[in-house]
Amino acid sequence: MEPSSTPQQLAEESIRIDSHLDGTGERSLADDVLDGLTRPFKELPPKHFYDARGADLFDQICDLPEYYPTRAERAILVQRAEEIAALTGAVELVELGSGTAAKTRVLLDALQAAGTLERYIPVDVTESMVRDCAETLTSEYPGLRVHGVIGDFERHLDHIPPAAGPRIVAFLGGTIGNFPPGSRRRVLRQIAGLLGPSDHLLMGTDLVKDPRVLEAAYDDAQGVTAAFNRNVLHVLNRELQADFDPEDFDHVALFDPHNEWIEMRLRARREHTTLVRDLDLPVHFDAGEGLRTEISAKFTPERLQSDLSAAGLELVRWLTDPDELFALSLSRVQPQ
Ligand SMILES: C[S@@+](CC[C@H](N)C(=O)[O-])C[C@H]1O[C@@H](n2cnc3c(N)ncnc32)[C@H](O)[C@@H]1O
Repeated sequence: MEPSSTPQQLAEESIRIDSHLDGTGERSLADDVLDGLTRPFKELPPKHFYDARGADLFDQICDLPEYYPTRAERAILVQRAEEIAALTGAVELVELGSGTAAKTRVLLDALQAAGTLERYIPVDVTESMVRDCAETLTSEYPGLRVHGVIGDFERHLDHIPPAAGPRIVAFLGGTIGNFPPGSRRRVLRQIAGLLGPSDHLLMGTDLVKDPRVLEAAYDDAQGVTAAFNRNVLHVLNRELQADFDPEDFDHVALFDPHNEWIEMRLRARREHTTLVRDLDLPVHFDAGEGLRTEISAKFTPERLQSDLSAAGLELVRWLTDPDELFALSLSRVQPQ
């Protein structure tokens, strides 16, 4: 008789991980640096914050007293996950920018309690996050299959496995707010392309509120967000042999009332030139010059509705916390 599998073997059998970043990850960083640091207003996309240290710093940010979005989004999930599970009947959960999947467990619990949960598909650029969360979740949820996708949700959505039944595509944490309006609609259209008629998009968006609350959330007293912001310079030093001194830059977080987004910048403390050796690229900074590292757009229900509808989606539920700090929207593809 065959010896029966150990719990560890069973967990390994239920995990599949595909990586789509071999080699191309560095190229995308190089392209973004070449493009973003030679513009009149210097800019880098926020996805490059997230090496293992950046991911760890983001986790610490989520626990800061000033950073309300994680707590508010979790509170909505705790309140409404059962309703979401019943409405969607989802057998699988795809999560874009899954990170440590901390809040995801609330949804997985609800789908498990509804008796429908079969598979979880985390998609993230940070390899360690996808691997760690596949291992932890398969041991926490016996019988759950995890198909991890290490990749960029702007480039690799077509590598997400086909649906095996009704699915929820979750895009939590307000990450959609990192895109300016035009790219936001493009990303939403691409995500809508993943949805079949029985699938739903569950998306977290931070809401417009008092600028002082917003700015404090991105400029905490302990300086964790400042360290997270400067971490992108460590990434450039390591990956592209650049010689940034992160201490040459101040962390700045400002609410832009016209665009209704938070803008994070690194502001040069003195005039200097850095060399990005792998690209043979000298980058000059004037004293006080900013490098924009993130925007985080804040939403009103109207803004979200018009973005969803431009992407061919219709709102099914709009869920907020009691203080209306954050919102989760459940949407589906508009019927033809
Ligand atoms: C703001 S964190 C949110 C994490 C988690 N979803 C949450 O709600 O706490 C953004 C996550 O998205 C990932 N990410 C950012 N840009 C990405 C991209 N273009 N493709 C895939 N993952 C990305 C980061 O690695 C990080 O884990």
